[in-house]
Amino acid sequence: MSQSRMCALLVVSLLSAALPAQAASLPQIKTSGVLRLATEGNYPPFNFYKNKTLSGFEVELGNALARQMGLKPVWTTVVFESLLLGLSRNRYDLVIASHGITPERLKAVDFSAPHYCSGGVLVARPGGPRTLTDLRGKVVTMGVNTTYLGYVQKLPGIAGVKTFSTTNDQLNAVLNNRADAMVLDRFNAIDASKVLPGKLQLGDIVFPERIGMAMDKNSPELVGAVNKALATLMADGTYAKLSVKYFGQDVRCP
Ligand code: ARG
Repeated sequence: MSQSRMCALLVVSLLSAALPAQAASLPQIKTSGVLRLATEGNYPPFNFYKNKTLSGFEVELGNALARQMGLKPVWTTVVFESLLLGLSRNRYDLVIASHGITPERLKAVDFSAPHYCSGGVLVARPGGPRTLTDLRGKVVTMGVNTTYLGYVQKLPGIAGVKTFSTTNDQLNAVLNNRADAMVLDRFNAIDASKVLPGKLQLGDIVFPERIGMAMDKNSPELVGAVNKALATLMADGTYAKLSVKYFGQDVRCP
């Protein structure tokens, strides 16, 4: 082979390695018989490992959605900050990991109709900051790529922001005095304060969030099918049952 031809081949193969794989289409997913879901696996009670088994509200909901669509659910767990990247790389079809539906995220991915409504609350040691004004001069800790980080970073007078990949590491930073407060989903915070009785103080709701499932922008048919399945589960009692199991109440958006 001539040197220039080899060079051209090398360029072509480098280019194709750099190009993102195309997301699977709904017909391709149906043919495969499998819905590939991704979540964090470290965010109780939404998605977590219980004796090595992935469980939680979002995991059970994802399983029910797949079954409703006639598909077998197959799960991948990925650190929260990298979850949305895997969609354009075709590593999985859908992310269900408590992502708030925001204009910034909508530039990169599509969202289903919200699968629950919640809000971030301020969490501190007892006697610590309760309101956003209390955060002046304080050190806060947030999750990488979370809406909470984006929000708190913009507040005036914050003394420092420490980021961690998991909620557990953020909670530990608060408990060990390495940070004064964090923002945590309200249902998450209720769960954490049950696990650590007397150790945490829950303050104000910082902002409300509509939480949805993320899919690649090139999969509008998949978004439609997921929304249809979600509406069915919301109408037939499956959703309400799961929600009461994990939260003692129905967490769907009003
Ligand atoms: N709701 C927040 C957001 O949209 C936090 C989500 C964190 N989720 C997780 N699985 N760790 O960014």
